[in-house]
Amino acid sequence: MEKLLYTGKAKQMWQTDDPEVLRVVYMDQATALNGKKKEHFAGKGEAANAISSLVFQYLIKHGIETHFIKKLSANEDLVKKCTMFPLEFVTRNVVAGHFASRYGLDEGKRLPEPVEETFYKSDELDDPFINESATIALGIATHAELEKMWGICREVNGLLTPLFEKAGMQLVDFKLEFGRLSNGKIILADEFSPDNCRLWDIKTDQHMDKDVYRRKLADLTQTYDQVLARLEDVIAED
Ligand code: C5P
Repeated sequence: MEKLLYTGKAKQMWQTDDPEVLRVVYMDQATALNGKKKEHFAGKGEAANAISSLVFQYLIKHGIETHFIKKLSANEDLVKKCTMFPLEFVTRNVVAGHFASRYGLDEGKRLPEPVEETFYKSDELDDPFINESATIALGIATHAELEKMWGICREVNGLLTPLFEKAGMQLVDFKLEFGRLSNGKIILADEFSPDNCRLWDIKTDQHMDKDVYRRKLADLTQTYDQVLARLEDVIAED
């Protein structure tokens, strides 16, 4: 019998017969304010999974190791089982979201170099900001492990910024998570979808990510379907 291991904000993780492999189910659900606001959106799980699968396959093709094995169905994937670091790695190319509110800035200015922020994943504490020395003091990761994970974040930014640009979207910011395989190797895990990045249409500056839900700007599933269609076009040409 498959066992449900974990229900997150938009995904469930299930055990499989293989101890090294998990099944991820993308749910038709969106949350905001760290889960305090939650809503059902038909078709959203399929769209997020389709986008994340395409992006992970693109990254794998370009030499980034990820947990993604294969798509099982429209809203399910098989992934490699890892022990997750309780950290969120946020990379920002353009001023938006909490970077704008925290420093009293208007959204939209391109940053002179990417801004890198780490957050400690904890629902009770509301995912606080954490710096390198605190991460080490709490025994979450070593300097070398953090350097390895930030190195992967920079590579991902270097690959995905031009990919989304070709698809007519600016990659404003994004969040990545990492895990360790049973052999100790650190790999990219979780997902890459408009749930955890900001994408702005290059021509119109229209939001094409979860901000359409957070800020009640447009239909969430339709927006994700547009991102998917654009990505499919550019990836087919790649
Ligand atoms: O809210 P903030 O501006 O800090 O978000 C930066 C980026 O990280 C956004 O793309 C957002 O979707 C993503 N993020 C996330 N999960 C969180 C916090 C932020 O995916 N818990």
